[in-house]
Amino acid sequence: MNAFSKIVNQDTFNKQDLITMLNADEEDRSMLFKKSREITDSLIGNKVHLRGLIEYSNVCIKDCLYCGIRKSNKNTQRYKLSDEDVIQCALYALEHNYGSIAIQSGERTDKLFITKITRLLKEIKKLSNGKLGITLSLGEQTLETYKEWFNAGAHRYLLRIETSNRELYAKIHPNNDLHNFDKRLEALQNIRKAGFQLGTGVMIGLPHQTIENLADDLLFLKALDVDMVGMGPYIEHFETPLIETQNVLIALQERLDLTFKMIATLRILMKDINIVAATALQAIDKMGREKAIRYGANILMPNITPGNFRNNYKLYQDKPCTDENATDCNTCIDARMSMIGSQIGYNEWGDSRHFTKSKV
Ligand code: 5AD
Ligand code: FES
Repeated sequence: MNAFSKIVNQDTFNKQDLITMLNADEEDRSMLFKKSREITDSLIGNKVHLRGLIEYSNVCIKDCLYCGIRKSNKNTQRYKLSDEDVIQCALYALEHNYGSIAIQSGERTDKLFITKITRLLKEIKKLSNGKLGITLSLGEQTLETYKEWFNAGAHRYLLRIETSNRELYAKIHPNNDLHNFDKRLEALQNIRKAGFQLGTGVMIGLPHQTIENLADDLLFLKALDVDMVGMGPYIEHFETPLIETQNVLIALQERLDLTFKMIATLRILMKDINIVAATALQAIDKMGREKAIRYGANILMPNITPGNFRNNYKLYQDKPCTDENATDCNTCIDARMSMIGSQIGYNEWGDSRHFTKSKV
């Protein structure tokens, strides 16, 4: 057994081990992926679970320096789906046996928004007879709001920390109270307190981000004991301030490769959690999400937002499937999954085993 294979076969991992895994060269890389695949096969199986993604609105009160739908981007045409649209999406997911939906939106914290989401959640629960699992990704809210949405029927919540490094966080967000690292940490705790399965994640390949930062991100996820992780490559958007750092970025292919290694290493580190194959991967490589699944991810979030709105939910350049409607996506995912020997867990919630286990 060589030094690298000894590391991936350990039971516990320190920061240096993680750095070694993320720095794997061509030969070690296949060992990393093989180990991660073994763990996925034995603990998760070859099933991939779906979260039909509804991009509810691109109206956002925040101004993250990397994000295309930031408040200050005046070139974005703002939209909000009607109740009817959201219900149609939920019905679509139900009819196509998706098992779960995910509602994502730009951040809003006003009362009108909060009650609207609560009402929609209740309606979706009712129309599906409780059959559809619901994940939310609606940003930082108060504990009270998280509780209200949990009680209305959602049961998983995704809020990316974006980076666990305070200094880097400050470099990619405006310096004000709305973009405060400590508040984000507090929000993560509140999500859990409200009863949700907790999901977070980071962007990979951010300007000035180091391998050491990424190893710390993995340790952060482990220490927080999260149930699910969604992480993907940072992709620059030309209408954002962070585009100024373009010259210090690593190449897109490198960001892609690093994302795959992050996924595989995370699977080895946190064996039974849910890991999303992020859509941003597909913006770099048409087979990006499939590869992510081969390397340890087990959740796919096909976009079921009505086609005419998708072009406006552009967090980054070249976002895939923006011109299609849900049906196009639906026909292709089955074929795409069987191509890589995976199978879709239709009609199942596909909850994080990590969470379910902690409850028994
Ligand atoms: N590149 C990649 N991911 C991005 N996100 C926002 N902007 C970008 C970008 N330019 C991600 C953030 C956010 C999620 C909804 O989308 O991680 O949490
Ligand atoms: Fe909307 Fe970051 S720009 S949450």
